[in-house]
Amino acid sequence: MRVTRREALLMIIFGLLGCQPPTKREVTPSPVGEIPLPTPGQRGEVSLEEALTRRRSIREFREEGLTPAEISQLLWAAQGVTDPRGFRTAPSAGALYPLELYVATGEGVYHYSPQSHRLATLSPEDRRLRLWEAGLKQDALREAPVIIVIAAVYARTEAKYGPRAERYVHLEAGHAAQNILLQATTLDLGAVPIGAFYDQKVQEVLALPSDHEPLYLIPVGHPR
Ligand SMILES: Cc1cc2nc3c(=O)[nH]c(=O)nc-3n(C[C@H](O)[C@H](O)[C@H](O)COP(=O)(O)O)c2cc1C
Repeated sequence: MRVTRREALLMIIFGLLGCQPPTKREVTPSPVGEIPLPTPGQRGEVSLEEALTRRRSIREFREEGLTPAEISQLLWAAQGVTDPRGFRTAPSAGALYPLELYVATGEGVYHYSPQSHRLATLSPEDRRLRLWEAGLKQDALREAPVIIVIAAVYARTEAKYGPRAERYVHLEAGHAAQNILLQATTLDLGAVPIGAFYDQKVQEVLALPSDHEPLYLIPVGHPR
């Protein structure tokens, strides 16, 4: 490794100060468009029983947005990795993980990576109004600051389970959705699982890959 005179000088100064100069790796920014999410909490103040009792479909929201910590917690609840072997918060047939999560906010559209617990920016545009149209103009979709979309890649599960896969994928979407709804309740947020929408329109609005089929739209916000 070649060291310039300036770098050598800095190394001497840092050596005298007893600390390490910042390495290139430490200052490298995250990949373009990738947003690291805050580390999700593992302990809440609301018990599971209380969350189950309090959960109700909420369709009216205040304008106030969600914090990165709240978005992080909701996505982790749905599909977060909780085991070094890659297992997640929600069970998955054969651990094949067919679900993909997308997030639409006023700032853009994002894709969630459970492995890195990061969001990848897909678009800087607010697509929520178009999702409202694709979702039969249900008011919850227009009012919510955040819409979480659960999509599925059926082929991942079909490869092992054949015709049984469709059932498994739908069951899994239910597991993930319920996790989101209960987690939202513990955060004093409201949400509703929406199944009535035009599949193809949602796919177009979010520019989803053709094999990422939307199953649920979950608007989340502060109850009005
Ligand atoms: C598969 C499924 C699809 C749903 N689709 C919609 C929907 O399109 N719009 C809506 O407002 N609520 C929808 N809901 C929410 C139900 O209306 C709601 O769960 C039901 O009224 C019971 O109320 P609760 O969730 O407060 O217990 C859906 C629920 C499920 C399970």
